[in-house]
Amino acid sequence: MTPLEIKKDIFWVGAVDFDNRDFHGYSLSPQGSTYNAYLIKDEKNVLFDTVSAHCATTLLCRLAKVLPPERVDYIVCNHLEPDHAGALKAVVERCKPEKIFCSKLGLQSMAGYFDISNWPVQVVSNGEEICIGKRTITFVETRMLHWPDSMVSYIKEDRLLISNDAFGQNIASTERFADQWNPYALAQAVKEYYYNIVLPYSPQVLKVLPLVESLDIDMIAPDHGLIHRGQESVRLILDMYRTLAEQKPQKRAVIIYDTMWHSTEKMAAAIISGLEEQGVPVRLMSLKENHHSAVMSEIAQCGAVIVGSPTHNNTYLPLVGAMLTYMKGLRPQNRIGGAFGSFGWSGEAPKQIYEWLSSMGWDMPVDALRQKWSPDMECYKAAHAMGATIAKALIAKCEG
Ligand code: FEO
Repeated sequence: MTPLEIKKDIFWVGAVDFDNRDFHGYSLSPQGSTYNAYLIKDEKNVLFDTVSAHCATTLLCRLAKVLPPERVDYIVCNHLEPDHAGALKAVVERCKPEKIFCSKLGLQSMAGYFDISNWPVQVVSNGEEICIGKRTITFVETRMLHWPDSMVSYIKEDRLLISNDAFGQNIASTERFADQWNPYALAQAVKEYYYNIVLPYSPQVLKVLPLVESLDIDMIAPDHGLIHRGQESVRLILDMYRTLAEQKPQKRAVIIYDTMWHSTEKMAAAIISGLEEQGVPVRLMSLKENHHSAVMSEIAQCGAVIVGSPTHNNTYLPLVGAMLTYMKGLRPQNRIGGAFGSFGWSGEAPKQIYEWLSSMGWDMPVDALRQKWSPDMECYKAAHAMGATIAKALIAKCEG
């Protein structure tokens, strides 16, 4: 329960949730996550965000090592999702703050989750500043990054951005800073988090980035995972976000599939050889072996996504259906798609997958590939040709 001073009189007082494995369908396996909360000691003592409800005691114990909880004057709620506001009721009851700040839409969320009739809530507007002594807090609304209520808090005197969900990662560790983590593992964690949470809001990211870049910042403190300290670390995460949000096509493919009696799996192998021959690296991901959030992380680096399923009860297999639903909700853009699968009786699945991927706005350079019963030589040739055609289309897109 040790707080960490991240800048003079600014403390991390959050909680590490090593055991959480699911965040509304996003697998946190194998390590869990961190709910960061920050405390500034000044003429007014300010707590930024809380933690998940089951970590309320952890937050209060950590906070109490900096100052008695009743000396917290203000609470800033940058975002009301329960991983950051679940402990709010317990914290309000313990601290009895003079004011609780949130955005206009945050007020709606807060009132939806809690009885706030006796809470001293004050709505702040975009760009509004409050003085807390030696410091000023500027509130910047970041609507739909990633909830309507989302905002970030900027403390110019400390060149600090408390960024809520933006720039986070699901890392559970006693380390607090990104520069203490393996750079490759950090990049993977940022990518996984972005592709499973932030991706649909990429247009908002591209709007917010210039604003963040215009601020004098040498530390970005998100509400999940590790803190980006120093100019180099800040530049790195901003550049990563720009790259992830732009979704420029990348010369790499992934084949996602499920199979009943291995025929669809065999078709996948022939599609791989067509892609390989054209020089496009490819990864095969069985949905029996790979969680849909791991697949989304892979899609982050793939300009082509090819989906296969046999037909079962006139449609695709359940794992494929779950994957398609999850992927469509996250709205990956600027991809080339492909659909294939075997069947015995009716064979609807590949066409349904094709239509699904088309409805996501993807380029579909090859018709759905269907094979009745086991693949024969003609089917393998067609599957190989499908891989080659998609590879050529992808290379042209990357170069175009
Ligand atoms: Fe980390 Fe939107 O909650």
